[in-house]
Amino acid sequence: MRKIGVLTSGGDAPGMNAAIRAVVRKAIYHGLEVTGFKRGYHGLIFGEYTDLQLGSVADVIHRGGTVLRTARSREFLEPAGRLRALEVIRESGIEGLIIIGGDGSFRGAVELEKLGVRTVGIPGTIDNDIAFTDYSIGFDTAVNNVIDAINKLRDTATSHERVYVIEVMGRTSGYIALSAGVAGGAESIIVPEIPFDMDDILERMHRGIKRGKLHSIILVAEGAAGAMDIAEIIKKKTSLDVRVTILGHLQRGGTPTAFDRILASRMGACAVDFLRSGCCGQMVGLVDGDLKFTPYEEALNTRKEFPEVLYNLATILAI
Ligand code: F6P
Repeated sequence: MRKIGVLTSGGDAPGMNAAIRAVVRKAIYHGLEVTGFKRGYHGLIFGEYTDLQLGSVADVIHRGGTVLRTARSREFLEPAGRLRALEVIRESGIEGLIIIGGDGSFRGAVELEKLGVRTVGIPGTIDNDIAFTDYSIGFDTAVNNVIDAINKLRDTATSHERVYVIEVMGRTSGYIALSAGVAGGAESIIVPEIPFDMDDILERMHRGIKRGKLHSIILVAEGAAGAMDIAEIIKKKTSLDVRVTILGHLQRGGTPTAFDRILASRMGACAVDFLRSGCCGQMVGLVDGDLKFTPYEEALNTRKEFPEVLYNLATILAI
């Protein structure tokens, strides 16, 4: 193997740059050339690629986003788009491709594998919704971004003795809400994985007020309910002063945490070794501290287990 490619696809995630850097540096260390494709699968189809040298990834480890840019390519969903991508891959001379992204990106990788392209996946998504990895790149930073926001909102919530309903991202997963809720000391956490009972949430709020709590923080995962709707119910059923904050894309930006940088560095280097050893068609994951590979199909067909034990603990601690 003399040349490999790398791309980032789907929603950006803090730490993707650290992963690109690791891929480039580890590959060059072993004497390989590296091509970077721009805007994910879009760059594969439209021939937007560039050689990456050691210096191309200087000064990026601390930056959020992705220097290769990213996109959700509609053309790649069509067979004609994928055939064009195959031509570009052949023309570029790469013999293996590292794909950094979430489940949609891995579905694309499966299609490339069917066309005979050797690929390896690195999970990069703030949602942490990919099975067979305890963490995906970007999740830790996103959770810390949410906690930072909760800390600030708590100050004003306490001063005004208000209820704050905070909506966080995660698509159909409640991982961000749960982790940020536990670390941020939220009174209630609403996630798609566990049915919620509004009366129970209200009851808990009233109990808190009775024993002198000055505020309530309710964290809602976007896949479970809308923060506005939850706030409306609280307004209708109580006389409490309620405010809503939808954190949106603020969660996805900013400098990656040390955890995400280290995870990305390890995964990037490991993915290069995987291709060099002649393997392909799998994604790398962090399982109990070690990096392990799982075939795409298995990962894509498995719903990531939700840590109910942690959810139950959060409920107890917010008593
Ligand atoms: O998958 C990452 C994510 O940030 C989700 O949490 C969110 O639902 C979605 O992407 C938002 O997508 P977009 O950036 O296209 O608005």
